[in-house]
Amino acid sequence: MAELLLEARDITVRFGGLTAVDAVNATFRAGELVGIIGPNGAGKTTFFNAISGVQMPTSGQLLVAGRNLSGQAPHHYAAAGIARTFQTPRVFADMPVAANIDFGLKFAGRHRKGAWQLRDEASILELIGLEAQADLPAGAITPSQQRALEIGMALATRPRLLLLDEVAAGLTEAEIENMALLIRRMRDELGLTVVWIEHAVTTLLRHVERVIVLHQGRVIADGTPAEVVRNAEVIEAYLGDEMVETPGVSA
Ligand SMILES: Nc1ncnc2c1ncn2[C@@H]1O[C@H](COP(=O)(O)OP(=O)(O)O)[C@@H](O)[C@H]1O
Ligand SMILES: [Mg+2]
Repeated sequence: MAELLLEARDITVRFGGLTAVDAVNATFRAGELVGIIGPNGAGKTTFFNAISGVQMPTSGQLLVAGRNLSGQAPHHYAAAGIARTFQTPRVFADMPVAANIDFGLKFAGRHRKGAWQLRDEASILELIGLEAQADLPAGAITPSQQRALEIGMALATRPRLLLLDEVAAGLTEAEIENMALLIRRMRDELGLTVVWIEHAVTTLLRHVERVIVLHQGRVIADGTPAEVVRNAEVIEAYLGDEMVETPGVSA
């Protein structure tokens, strides 16, 4: 079995009386491409916040490459190789695209040493398909290009584990498929572990090899796409509304 990169043990996040994440157990191994799906408000983003240090869990433990990072600040997670994107893209709109990438390389990336395939800005721009836009202000490129740029900024921190929160939201069908291909390349060519939250369930299920389903803060399924689409609780809670048929995933 590949190395265990991140283990969430009984992670619970409460906001007052609301339990947004309810005793979630999940493991992510080196080189995995895992999807997380579930209805709006299921706790997907809050779970990402918890496992990237952005949100302190109410209880539970987070082990990153065997180290207990529970309760640590976000930069400890970055130093341990965890990078994430945000549901609402956060780019520096007035800065050129290339300078946005440089920011990650110079600041966040300085914590991490060792071999990393994307040594410079140019190789990241090439991977995310923004070479021609390098000198444009980030605010002037299309929303789908801004999504790609946000991924580039995360890559610049030299992660081992990349957390993507709805990077295909608001994109056209063709752009969603391109995004899925970029995600595949980051796993296949860079060997990253990628965890991908997406509302475009049918696309996601065609590309991931494991999917975790959250519902009301709880994990109601964790298995292959084929297993998950025939899970009665998942169909009841979510998939019944989301998809009539899923091309390429046979139940
Ligand atoms: N900072 C917060 N304060 C209070 N409630 C929150 C906060 N963040 C999220 N929530 C609530 O937690 C639940 C889970 O939200 P979220 O993790 O964003 O779900 P998802 O990403 O699956 O749509 C929702 O009911 C949401 O309103
Ligand atoms: Mg969310």
